[in-house]
Amino acid sequence: MKKKLIAGNWKMNGGLAANESLIQALLSGLAAKAALCDIAVCVPAPYLAQLQSLLAGSALALGAQDVSAHEGGAYTGEVAAAMLKDFAVRYCLVGHSERRLYHGESDALVATKAQRALAAGITPIVCIGETLAEREAGKTEEVVKRQLAAVIQLNGHCVSEIVVAYEPVWAIGTGKTASPEQAQEVHAVLRAQLNAASAHAERIQILYGGSMNAANAQQLLGQPDIDGGLIGGAALKAADFLTIIAAAA
Ligand code: PGA
Repeated sequence: MKKKLIAGNWKMNGGLAANESLIQALLSGLAAKAALCDIAVCVPAPYLAQLQSLLAGSALALGAQDVSAHEGGAYTGEVAAAMLKDFAVRYCLVGHSERRLYHGESDALVATKAQRALAAGITPIVCIGETLAEREAGKTEEVVKRQLAAVIQLNGHCVSEIVVAYEPVWAIGTGKTASPEQAQEVHAVLRAQLNAASAHAERIQILYGGSMNAANAQQLLGQPDIDGGLIGGAALKAADFLTIIAAAA
């Protein structure tokens, strides 16, 4: 059985002092359990150097929250995949719903970002998910398949190197979690789509995200096609994040 992945998404939160105390608390809480699942924290870009040094030699992997679709050059404000790699970044979120919504990121752009990450040896965590309106219109399956298809088409056989995060937009930061059954239903669809796309798709971890917390993690992670979690709010509290890791291990 593949290991589960628990990835924290700090979003635009943190500071030098707060980051250090959160990581110290996580590392001392992890101790022996760490090897039982993959763990990552996706942090704001300015803190990558700090986190690289805090995480050195630990079981916690470093993640970024976005990457440029361009390789380098005149793109003010953008961060290239090769730059992330310089700080030992192992994972990078691409296409988080907040980027799709507030920065107009299209399926095609997200697919290109995933390609850039892969080319630099970074695992893209490709975020997909439907809005409440799309769910209520019965379009959940159509939307998530379209979002994932863009990444599959551009990345060909390399798609087996990605991680997928299913995050229903209506569940993000709202306290409204998808029920384990609702999440499993979509994960099964995504699993089938990935298996049809690549002979090595079985290794792809499909995470659930959207108000996953210490209280509901066990049930969600117990579903057959849920291979981990992408955790926002609860990743900022060491005790909660450790409880979720324990539920995955
Ligand atoms: P949440 O965020 O856990 O706070 O709902 C998840 C995410 O946006 O990745």
